[in-house]
Parts: sequence; structure tokens; C-alpha cells
Amino acid sequence: MKKVGEKSCMNLNLTVSLNAFVNMFREFEIHEYSFFIKHAFRVAKIVRELSKFLSLPVDSDYVYLMGLLHQIGLPLIAATEHPEFFRQKFGKISDMEELSKTFSGGEKHPIVSKQILSSVRFLPQNLSNAIFYHRDPSKCMDLERTLSYSLMTADIVARKAAMYESLHSKFLEETVYEIKEHKEIPDTVKDAMLKILSRYSFAYLIDDQPRFFSEKELTLEEFGSLAKLLVFLLDFRSTFTRNHSILVAEVSKKIAEEILSEEDGRLVYIAGLLHDIGKIRISPQLLHKASRLNEQEMFVMKTHVLETYKILSESGIAPCVTNIAAAHHERLDGSGYPLGLTAKNLMIHQRILQVADVFVALIEERPYRRALSVPEAFEILESEIERGRLDTRIFEALKQIINEGNLNIPESFLIPDYIRFSSSKFSEGR
Ligand SMILES: [Fe+2]
Ligand SMILES: [Fe+2]
Ligand SMILES: [Fe+2]
Repeated sequence: MKKVGEKSCMNLNLTVSLNAFVNMFREFEIHEYSFFIKHAFRVAKIVRELSKFLSLPVDSDYVYLMGLLHQIGLPLIAATEHPEFFRQKFGKISDMEELSKTFSGGEKHPIVSKQILSSVRFLPQNLSNAIFYHRDPSKCMDLERTLSYSLMTADIVARKAAMYESLHSKFLEETVYEIKEHKEIPDTVKDAMLKILSRYSFAYLIDDQPRFFSEKELTLEEFGSLAKLLVFLLDFRSTFTRNHSILVAEVSKKIAEEILSEEDGRLVYIAGLLHDIGKIRISPQLLHKASRLNEQEMFVMKTHVLETYKILSESGIAPCVTNIAAAHHERLDGSGYPLGLTAKNLMIHQRILQVADVFVALIEERPYRRALSVPEAFEILESEIERGRLDTRIFEALKQIINEGNLNIPESFLIPDYIRFSSSKFSEGR
């Protein structure tokens, strides 16, 4: 891991490429999300191809994102409302249609997906609307209607591909039949899909490669709104961590704004969001263990930091962000991991994330202990500071922020607002 001095982070006019997001998203094709993400990538590739074929006046990178995220509400509803089902069965059902019908509330995923995608400000509204209507495109008009039908068609093809994984001829035969006979899909979209299917290069749409390359560079804020979607998938794997990364990001940002600048706030916010992304590679069995981890399990759990480092550096995100994120378990006295860095090598942004991560973990419930109150968490942080492990200046800033009431700590760590909102207002928006 490279050491980054404070200076190299001072050029905060950072941008992150859209490719980095897609690369990170691909890391989620593992464990519970394996089938789900594979499906998402197939739909993304197919719907982008359709939109190009139909010459739709929408940026094809964004159409790809629409496909990638069209069902993101599904795992979030499953994890929130049916955690047991999510843990045991979600990753085992490869048929997305069946999956969305298997648990109650699953059929409302388009509204949750739309809502989540709408929060990505730079994406055109008609894409999130197309997601909302892709089960019933006749309800919308014009471009949104064609996009919805394209998404519906891509979904059908991708589901067939999952059913006949390696049987290409059977897959083609069945898919062509289903598309041709479909009662609702307009002929223009049908024809486009059938032409694409007839091309020998079609196999590339259903292979394991993302086939995505974009020139787009996003500001940290734009990237943050996309990265949040990944973080939901990451943190929703366990009921105990549902708000973890978001809260770490918020706390870090507030501290950085207090003692550094708004720009620094944006930087540590992204690092905070992504700091535990390596946990996606930790098995669900270990993640969900109901008691304290033994030494061997702890060793495996600790590898998440190195995995964070690998995922971030390979995805093409700025090294500056990676180095902040990957040092969240380092300690000033050298007792942390994975590198045992000491104070002289730990810059202020990294120290902020360390304090924020410990603080947030303490006020969260764990399977083996209740959530601590803020004063109790402060007591523990104080003892860490006395032992020379965490930075006192940052702790003081955190105390001040909390005492001034500048941090909104959610009372419940169980159901985030947007899911609650979507459930109760299911019928609205049509
Ligand atoms: Fe789908
Ligand atoms: Fe961590
Ligand atoms: Fe963490």
C-alpha cells in the first residue's frame, strides 16, 4: 500500500470515471448476489444494444446503467422485509421472475428501484421512469414507453439465458419464440431484438464480461450517489450493518468539514462509503455468525481491508480515495492492520475515517452486544485515545459536532427511510 502524504490529497478536483462504478458493481457477482448481478449485467448489455439499434435519443451509457440497476430494489426489499429468506434463499434462485414472486412485496421492486435510481441526480428521469413501468409499459408514453418495452424485452431474454445457461441453441429457439409470440411488445422492439439475436455475436451479450467502456468522468458528488447503491447492497447483507457505511461516510464528512474544508468532506465521504467494500468477498456464513468470531474467523474477517484495497485500486478509483479507505483499521501506535502503519504515516483523512468507523460500529447493535449509547461510545473512544491509538483532535471535533446536534443519528438501524417510504406509498406515482 502506497503512503499518501497530505499534499497529494490537496488537489481535490478529483473525478471518478463511470467505468470505476461498473467495475465495482461487477465485484458484487458473488455469494448472495451472484445470480442477481449476472442477470443485471446481461440486461444492461441487451437493453443498451436495443436502444442503439432503435436509435433512441438517450445516452447509451445511461441506458446500460438503467439495465444494470433495473432490479436493485429486489434484494433491498428482500433483505429488509424478509431477512431470513434473503440469507437462506435469495442467492439460490436464479430465475428473477420467480424470485420477485417468491416473497411478499417482491413485486413492488420496480417502485423501489425507480426511487433509488431517481436519487442518482445526473441520470435522466425517463430512465428511472422506464424502470418503474417495465412490467407494464403500456402505462407510459413516447420515449419512456419504448425504453420500458426495451427493458422488458431485455429482461425476458436475460431470464431465458439464465435458464439455458450453456444450451445456446435451446436458448435461442425458446427466446425467439417467446419474443415473436409476445402480445404486448411493439413490433419495432421485437424486430430489433430478433435481429440482434440472429447475429452470431449475440453470445457476447450473455457472456461474463461487462462490455462497458465509458469516457465519462463524474464529480465526487455524482460518483457518491452511484456508490451509495453499491453500499446498500453491501451493508444490507447483514441486519447489523444496514447503515454502517453511510453513517461512517456522514460522520467522516462532518468531521472533515469541521477541521478541514468542504472539499475534504467530499473526499472522506467517498472513502467512508467504500471503506468496507472488501466485505463483499467475506462469506455470508462468517458475516452472519451470531456470536463473537474466534481467532481464525477474525483473521479471515480482517482480510476485508486488503480486499477493499484491491477492489478500489483495480476499479480505477483515485489512489487518494483508496488509501484513505484502506487505512481505516490502522492505528496511530502501530497496533492496527493490515500494515501496522504508525502516526507518522497516517494522514489526517485516514485518521478521520478511523475515528468515525470505531464510533459508528460502537453505536450499532451487534449479534453479541447491544448498541452502545453515544456517551458509552465516547468513553471507549477516550480510552483508545489514552492508549495512543486514535487522534484526539478528531475525537474533539466529533464531540463538538454531536454536542451541537449537527449529526443525525438514526434511531433505528433496521429499516432505512426510503424503503419505508416506498412500502407505504406503493400505489403512488403511477
Ligand atoms: Fe430483470
Ligand atoms: Fe472495516
Ligand atoms: Fe467499517
